[in-house]
Amino acid sequence: MSFVRACALSDLQPETALPVEIGDEDVAVVFSGGEYFAVRDECSHASIPLSEGDVGNCEIECYLHGSRFDLRTGAALGLPATEPVPVFPTKIDGDDLLVDVGA
Ligand code: FES
Repeated sequence: MSFVRACALSDLQPETALPVEIGDEDVAVVFSGGEYFAVRDECSHASIPLSEGDVGNCEIECYLHGSRFDLRTGAALGLPATEPVPVFPTKIDGDDLLVDVGA
């Protein structure tokens, strides 16, 4: 796949996440620390949408059990999750945020 439009930049306030669907992939697009990120919108511990969790310091926290994930790498930063979540490249195109879920 290639970069496709995920949302308008104006849809994302600082330190928030937004759920979007790109093809078959549920994606959480996130604006944190002045950067845009995209991760699979599913906690690696259980099937919980990460986009409903808190965002801060380039991390997103699963609301159910509190595991945090590094938005740059997808790495789990705290138990009970131990596996990373997939991260996807983002790109700004004018007023839009693009994501490549096939990368
Ligand atoms: S479901 Fe996310 S940490 Fe348990």
